[in-house]
Amino acid sequence: MTYRQLGNSGLFVYPIALGTMQFGWTADEPTSFAILDAFVAAGGNLIDTADIYSTWAPNNPGGVSEAIIGRYLASRQNRDRVLIATKVRGAMGTGATEGRNSPLQREGLSRKWILQACEDSLRRLQVDYIDLYQVHWVDAQVPIEETLSALTDLVRRGYVRYLGASNYSAWRLMQALWASDKHGYERFVSLQPEYSIASPTREAFERELGRVCETYQLGVLPYSPLAGGFLTGKYRRNQPLPDSVRAQGIAGQRFSDKNWQILDALSEVAARHGVPVAQVALAWQLHQPFMTAPIIGANSVAQLQELLPAATLSLEVGELEALNTVSNWEPSRTERES
Ligand SMILES: NC(=O)c1ccc[n+]([C@@H]2O[C@H](COP(=O)([O-])OP(=O)(O)OC[C@H]3O[C@@H](n4cnc5c(N)ncnc54)[C@H](OP(=O)(O)O)[C@@H]3O)[C@@H](O)[C@H]2O)c1
Repeated sequence: MTYRQLGNSGLFVYPIALGTMQFGWTADEPTSFAILDAFVAAGGNLIDTADIYSTWAPNNPGGVSEAIIGRYLASRQNRDRVLIATKVRGAMGTGATEGRNSPLQREGLSRKWILQACEDSLRRLQVDYIDLYQVHWVDAQVPIEETLSALTDLVRRGYVRYLGASNYSAWRLMQALWASDKHGYERFVSLQPEYSIASPTREAFERELGRVCETYQLGVLPYSPLAGGFLTGKYRRNQPLPDSVRAQGIAGQRFSDKNWQILDALSEVAARHGVPVAQVALAWQLHQPFMTAPIIGANSVAQLQELLPAATLSLEVGELEALNTVSNWEPSRTERES
């Protein structure tokens, strides 16, 4: 297996990363441990989490996914074997929605909150350092210089190895890269966008962000590469919804004529290779020029095992063309020529 370099950083990652938003939400702790064991045994190394995972689960104050990973690393003594990527930005108030309205201001990208949030994440994860510390989304109320200066201090103090951004627009990403150049701050080495063959954000990513990442050598770690499960093939036209807490949301967001056509095209390629649809959806991503490693989510070892072979699934040019024909957006003349 060839590990992929994360942008121009010194990190090398298995081509499929493991998301852990499910841990403490739709996967309990023993299941989470089993998924982590299976991922590591297969050669996987990048584990993506966030301080706020999973505040949307009932009675969950946040930090639960990080705490599960912390207990896992302590019990397996395999810290050196994995890369831990976590995030800061979301509200970690005593009530999940308290956030910026709380006098404690336990959210955002201020110097005060970043330093506190990192300390909290290190404690929950039971580690001395975080490999990739990502800003979860923009905080428009705080100057980017303040954010980058605080993040730089974390790197220089050894608490964090590399910095990444998530959910940034192209201009925000360029603004951050320029600020790093101008002031000598540490620079984002990766972007975590929402991206899949059927995601509504695909066009925005390919129009601008993907090209920023290629040009400035940022690694790309897309989330929801299976559109939350839609691209596994278990959602079908006019069929009852599958058993998933996300099913209603997926029906609302993903069911469209175009997406059903994309699913049909993926199913055809999958049938030709004799593999599950989800593997073709992931393999399509891995064939994109700017791609480092999609971050998948799994609720069981069986789900994970079904996805991992995508790392070595090779699609033919004609198959990629067929998938692009059904899913593509139309570039303007300026975009074609630039
Ligand atoms: N930066 C951000 O803002 C952000 C946002 C969202 C997620 N993330 C990260 O990205 C990770 C992945 O996101 P995601 O969960 O939306 O990714 P996804 O890979 O698109 O969807 C994962 C879901 O698909 C279903 N699934 C997976 N494998 C399957 C299989 N073999 N057969 C049938 N169903 C299967 C499972 O849901 P069911 O079993 O419920 O159907 C699973 O939870 C998260 O864990 C998190 O680390 C980041």
